[in-house]
Amino acid sequence: MKKIIQLNSAAETTHLGEQLADKLQPGDLLLLDGDLGAGKTTFTKGLAVGLGIKRPVKSPTFTIVREYQTGRMPLYHMDVYRLENGGGDELGLEEYINGDGVVVIEWSQFVQEELPDNYLKLSFRRDDTQGENYRQLIIEPFGKHYEDLIDQLIEDK
Ligand SMILES: Nc1ncnc2c1ncn2[C@@H]1O[C@H](COP(=O)(O)OP(=O)(O)OP(=O)(O)O)[C@@H](O)[C@H]1O
Ligand SMILES: [Mg+2]
Repeated sequence: MKKIIQLNSAAETTHLGEQLADKLQPGDLLLLDGDLGAGKTTFTKGLAVGLGIKRPVKSPTFTIVREYQTGRMPLYHMDVYRLENGGGDELGLEEYINGDGVVVIEWSQFVQEELPDNYLKLSFRRDDTQGENYRQLIIEPFGKHYEDLIDQLIEDK
């Protein structure tokens, strides 16, 4: 079941990322969608804090993937906006997804055909009628594992 959450500031977005990080396990896949400046990297900063990563998260726009190895488990943060069609192969997307860490993909629609069936999708939307710091977040779990994860997240909130 899809859930909708209102986020009223960047701090609320990072806080939610921190809370979600507590529930994650190796091999989890998060897809972050939404326009430029929607909040995908901001959310990932919170995830990293929640995983115990001290190094500041920078947008991987130019490098496509950044790896953080010092937390509770590795974080593989990708921004595939600049990937050519089918570029997931070259990037080793499958190896990352089948690896030992959490994989976060911004602009996942660009590698849609190379993704597995199960993942958690988070879509950030601005709504300027609600102010510039407002975001609506739609959370959609695909597969039982991610449904359970979201139920837990909502319960503990
Ligand atoms: N509620 C909010 N949630 C997230 N970010 C917010 C919010 N309100 C304001 N902001 C600001 O909006 C910007 C979001 O930028 P961010 O880099 O996270 O976007 P992005 O979705 O990763 O964009 P891109 O597609 O360019 O990578 C930041 O400057 C952040 O401080
Ligand atoms: Mg970003």
